[in-house]
Amino acid sequence: MIPLKSEHDLVMLRVSGRILARVLRKLQEIVKPGITTAQIDALAEELVLKENAQPAFKGYKEYPFATCTSANAAIVHGMPDEKRLEEGDIISIDLGVIYQEYFTDAAVTVPVGNIDAKKRKLIEVTKKSLAEGIKQAKVGNHLSDISYGIQNYVEKNGFSVVRQFVGHGIGRSLHEEPEIPNFGRPNHGPILKAGMVFAIEPMVNMGTWEAEILENGWTAVTLDRLPSAHFEHTVAITEMGPEILTKEQ
Ligand code: MF3
Ligand code: CO
Repeated sequence: MIPLKSEHDLVMLRVSGRILARVLRKLQEIVKPGITTAQIDALAEELVLKENAQPAFKGYKEYPFATCTSANAAIVHGMPDEKRLEEGDIISIDLGVIYQEYFTDAAVTVPVGNIDAKKRKLIEVTKKSLAEGIKQAKVGNHLSDISYGIQNYVEKNGFSVVRQFVGHGIGRSLHEEPEIPNFGRPNHGPILKAGMVFAIEPMVNMGTWEAEILENGWTAVTLDRLPSAHFEHTVAITEMGPEILTKEQ
């Protein structure tokens, strides 16, 4: 069963999402050549706590950090470390927030200094594919319309979508039903209803869609080691259309 959120739940999720968006903006602002992902993670934790919230990933299945930081060929679940980011890298920052037991989840991919045109296009297409998916998150549509919207846009632009990792329901916990693949044919699966809340998160690869997990047991990387980008928003389905919860106002 896909849980439906009440009006009160949505009020709380908006607060949680606004905190997350504010913190994620500040994290993006410090990205530059020479900074480490450990520094980004430390700032994330500090800022989330300052907002009277908690980082949602830390402790989840024993994950030790507030953020996932996935550079270049890393798709998702990259672990913050002491390695310095370099000009030309791309870095995904994924953050979850718990505010009074309400969970939200969002991610962005940003350039480190100047990046080449192909990486810029990868980031742009991934960001727009999220917008295409969100556009389909409306009452009466099928769940797979979101998936298809993302895949269709990505493949039209010559990139590929990751299969092993998917979006998810969210709200009273980080991962709720349903799973939301970033690929699929339209018109399948459950019908979307007002009160559903989804974390929609396309992961888009420049080359092959195939992935593997590194020895740390977490970090997913592209099999061909070409770059990958990731964007995510927490979105409520309302009678008035999709409402992005992880935004500043
Ligand atoms: N946005 C990712 C997800 O929903 C991040 C989870 S990181 C974890 O799977 F550490 F919490 F697993
Ligand atoms: Co997520």
